[in-house]
Amino acid sequence: MRSPPPILPLEVSDLCYTAGGERLLRDISFTLEAGSLTIILGPNGAGKSLILRLCHGLLKPTGGSVQWRGGGNPARRHAMVFQRPVLLRRTAAANISHALKLHGLDRHARAQRTLAALAQAGLSDLARRQARLLSGGEQQRLAFARAWALSPQVLFLDEPTANLDPAATRAIETTIHGFRAMGTKVVMTTHDLAQARRLADDILFFNRGRLVENGPAKPFFAAPRSKEGQAFIAGEILW
Ligand SMILES: Nc1ncnc2c1ncn2[C@@H]1O[C@H](COP(=O)(O)OP(=O)(O)OP(=O)(O)O)[C@@H](O)[C@H]1O
Ligand SMILES: [Mg+2]
Repeated sequence: MRSPPPILPLEVSDLCYTAGGERLLRDISFTLEAGSLTIILGPNGAGKSLILRLCHGLLKPTGGSVQWRGGGNPARRHAMVFQRPVLLRRTAAANISHALKLHGLDRHARAQRTLAALAQAGLSDLARRQARLLSGGEQQRLAFARAWALSPQVLFLDEPTANLDPAATRAIETTIHGFRAMGTKVVMTTHDLAQARRLADDILFFNRGRLVENGPAKPFFAAPRSKEGQAFIAGEILW
């Protein structure tokens, strides 16, 4: 089977987002390339979730642009997992197989991929349970299994472990490494510095609706260039 052409890079140019009379994001420009794991880092209210939703196409910029520059058709080649998983009132297995149906897979392929995705997430035993009755950690693993089944080229994650205990967080981080190993570009928001240090290849550091720093993770954590970055690394809250 031929793999589809790459949709990356994703180019964000002079992006602004205004709502309720307030400029929530201003003059944001960056390019997301394949390969690395990018963490969008910043304090509460910095604009991390907004930028992710704009990249995924859930919101439209009020200024500037978000453009997929690769050769392929981006529709359905990028997926997103939210802080609180959005699951259908169906079994765990049916949640995955429904998503695959929307992507046009036939019944046989859906059944196979659903089983594989559940197994990969360690959820085989819960396949027939109602998704919305699963625990928070199980629901989040199911949301990841559903994304996994779709083999996206780009996966946007908005604080996917914010509500989880340390063991569930570790399980999700292992899955995130799995996506990376599979060649999926992961773009993830967090305000958790320790998690960013564990996962990031690249950092986009936001503060108050602006992109303050953009570059490889190691030098950012060793010596942030900006005053805001230094304060954030030092654990001083920025408001
Ligand atoms: N539709 C909207 N109308 C007005 N203000 C909004 C809207 N959406 C978001 N905001 C505001 O924009 C700012 C950025 O929000 P965003 O959710 O992107 O922050 P965040 O960096 O994800 O924060 P957190 O770490 O708390 O998740 C916040 O001050 C928020 O209150
Ligand atoms: Mg957020």
